[in-house]
Amino acid sequence: MTSNSATNVRQIFDRIAPVYDDLNDWLSLGQHRIWKKMAVRWINPQPGQTVLDLCCGSGDLAIMLARRVAPSGQVFGVDFACAQLAIAAQKLATYPHLQNCVVWQEGDALALQFADRTFDGATMSYGLRNVVDIPQCLTELHRVLKPGAIAAILDFHRPSDPLMTRFQQFYLDRIVVPAARQRGVTEEYEYIAPSLARFPIGKDQEKSAIAAGFTKATHYQIANGMMGILVLTK
Ligand SMILES: C[S@@+](CC[C@H](N)C(=O)[O-])C[C@H]1O[C@@H](n2cnc3c(N)ncnc32)[C@H](O)[C@@H]1O
Repeated sequence: MTSNSATNVRQIFDRIAPVYDDLNDWLSLGQHRIWKKMAVRWINPQPGQTVLDLCCGSGDLAIMLARRVAPSGQVFGVDFACAQLAIAAQKLATYPHLQNCVVWQEGDALALQFADRTFDGATMSYGLRNVVDIPQCLTELHRVLKPGAIAAILDFHRPSDPLMTRFQQFYLDRIVVPAARQRGVTEEYEYIAPSLARFPIGKDQEKSAIAAGFTKATHYQIANGMMGILVLTK
C-alpha cells in the first residue's frame, strides 16, 4: 500500500480482520493486553460512566472498559471497518453479562456522531497512527469529552536509543512481515513501518493535543520506547 487514504486504511483493516487478533497476540507475545490495561488504568473508569473506545477494531479495549463501567455504564466502540466490528461483536457475545454495556458503532473518528461533552473518558489503541488527519481526530476527541475527562492513547513509538531503533526495524521487517506473509496479509503489515516513520513523536503529539484544546498532554514511553501512551486531560 503506498497511499494512506481513509478508504485504503479501512479496506486494510477489513481484510486483515480474520487474522488480526491472532497476529497481535503472537507478535507482541500477548503484551498488547498489558499495554491496553495500562491505558484503561490511566482513565480509571468507574461503574456507571459512559466511555469511548475510538478506533476500537476487534474490541479488546472496549471490553476491558465494559468490565469497569458495568453493570449500569456504557462503552461506545467506534470504528469504520465493519469486519473488525463483526469480530468485536462475536467476542462480546462470549461475555453475556457485558452485552448491554457495549454499543459497537460504525463511524469515522474524524467526524464523530456524538454530542459535545458526552464521555467521562476515552481510550484509543493503535488508531491515532492510522487516521489520515491527526489534528482533526484530537479535536473531535476533545469535543466529545466532558470537562475534566481523561483520554489515553496507546500506539507505537520510535525509540530514541539507536539499539532499540535497530531492534524495532528488525522486528518489523524480519518478524512481523514474515508472520503476516504466512497468513496471506503481507502488504497490510508492510504498512506498519512507513506509518510509524511518519507518526509524530511524543512531544509533537503533546503539542497537537494542546492545539486541539486539551489542557494537559503528557506522552509516556513504554516497552523500551517502542510504544507510547499519550495521556490527555480536557
Ligand atoms: C491497528 S487497528 C487498532 C484496533 C484496536 N484498537 C486494537 O488496538 O487492537 C486501527 C483501527 O483504526 C481504525 N481506523 C482508522 N482510521 C479510522 C477512522 N478515521 N475512523 C474510524 N476508525 C478508523 C481501523 O479500521 C482499525 O480497526
